Formats: sequence, structure tokens, C-alpha cells
Amino acid sequence: MSASIRQIHPVFVGEVSGADIARPLSSDVVAAIEAGMDRYAVLVFRGQELTDDRQMAFSRNFGRLEDARGGHITKPEDRRLQVGMNDVSNLGKDGRPLDRDSRERAFNLGNMLWHSDSSFRAVPAKYSLLSARVVNPVGGNTEFADMRAAYDALDPATRARIEDLVCEHSLMHSRGLLGMLDYSDEERSMFRPVRQRLVRQHPVTGRKSLYLSSHAGAIVGMPLAEARILLRDLTEHATQPRFVYVHTWRPWDLVMWDNRQTMHRVRRYDDTLPRDMRRTTVAGDAPTAEQVPAA
Ligand SMILES: [Fe+2]
Repeated sequence: MSASIRQIHPVFVGEVSGADIARPLSSDVVAAIEAGMDRYAVLVFRGQELTDDRQMAFSRNFGRLEDARGGHITKPEDRRLQVGMNDVSNLGKDGRPLDRDSRERAFNLGNMLWHSDSSFRAVPAKYSLLSARVVNPVGGNTEFADMRAAYDALDPATRARIEDLVCEHSLMHSRGLLGMLDYSDEERSMFRPVRQRLVRQHPVTGRKSLYLSSHAGAIVGMPLAEARILLRDLTEHATQPRFVYVHTWRPWDLVMWDNRQTMHRVRRYDDTLPRDMRRTTVAGDAPTAEQVPAA
């Protein structure tokens, strides 16, 4: 079996054919997929009937799975899916859509803001892999933005100005934008801000990218309002339609993306009906910036 990849957007995104990822893959196919990720940053696989175990096994070809703890307000006993799976559905443990007023639902709505997965972790994620099990009939597209193309399109003065900037990222910032301001002491410590470089360089291709995310709420050494205006301007620049691919989900699509080179967001959908999307996350290898020790 050999996989082939066809670019489906002017600046990034490849669609893969000839790979049945529900089965163990040869090292050649894994290497071709990883090389495709380096080049296209987002890969689309259609018609992949995965179980959670097969999705985790496929994901482990690219590194260790990220520990999902610390990334959500849902308590372990209330989780719908096993450890290793990130539940990005709108469903509770009983399999039904979460109540409109529930705190979990409000927290999940943060995925509709542009972000890079786990940028709130000191060691942020490498890849995310999202499998569509139940597609919502109304809306629910996922949009991806190419942060390398966005970086390349910056003027030289802006590039020079932001080269060494370091941002603070926290889930409390992205959720704060939605008016979620109350957290327990445990959540406050779990969601303590981490530092990330604003400009990253891809370890294989050497391409630079903007490392933006709605979790970013401050820039080290810069007045807060000035930092937020800069982050907002850069985000507006980086999410112009020319840098964005819109994915319309079909059941059993799997889309994998490189969080080091892209941002994404979900669009609104009919939240009274199920949308069962299951994510695995491949951990990154290192922090992007020096962290401040906990006080
Ligand atoms: Fe996400």
C-alpha cells in the first residue's frame, strides 16, 4: 500500500488517499504521512472507520499521546471517553447533548475561538487528530489557518518587532473572553499561565510561523492593552480567508493538523443535536520558552 497526497488549498492542506489508517501501517507509509504533515500542516483522510483504540494506535506512530489532564473542567469521573481520548463532542457522559446552561458546554464553546491545541501547556501539542463519528446536520465546520503563510506575509518591520516576543497562554484567558471568569482554586492552579514564543520555527522544515491562540492573553514585558491589541491585529492578519481552509465534515473523516504551524476553530452548529468528534493529541517534545517557576 502506498499513500498519495494531493494539495487541496492554495497554501496548505493535503488530502491523503491509499492509506487505511485503521490497520497497522508500514514505516514507509508513516514516514510519508509525517513528511506530508511537515509540508501541508493539515492532512485529510476520508472514510476511516476507526475505533478509539485504533485512533490511538494510529496517533502513536507520530509520538507519545498527550496526557489530557489539566486541559478541561470536566472531572475524571464525569468523562465519557477513556484516558487518551479528548472528548470534543457536545455530549455528556449519558451520551446526550449537554444542558444549554452547563459550565462544561460554556467551556467547550471556547473551541469556537481561533486556537492552537494545548498552547496553554508548558510543552504544547505537536499534532491533533480528529475523527468524526457523528456529524451535526447544521454547521460545525472546522476552519484551519496556516500560520507559516501568515508569517511569510508580514512586513519586515513587524517580523523584526515580534521575533523574540514571549506570550502568556492560559485557558482562563480564552474562556474569559466568553465571560467565564469564576474558577476554583484547583482550576486556577491547573490553568496557571505558561509562556510561549510568538514566533516558532519548524524543527524539520525550518519554516517560521506565528504561534497565536485565543489562550494568549499577555506578552512578557509589554503593557497589557498594547499586547492585546498586537495579538488581536496579528490574529486578524493570520486568519484572512486566503490563509484559511474550511473543512466540511463527513462521517468517518479524520483530519490531523500540526499545532505548531496552524490555528483552528469550530463554527457554530445545532447544539440540541449530537456532534460526536473524538480527538487524540500527540505531545510535543519541548517548551518553546523558559517558564517561570510556580510561586
Ligand atoms: Fe482545538
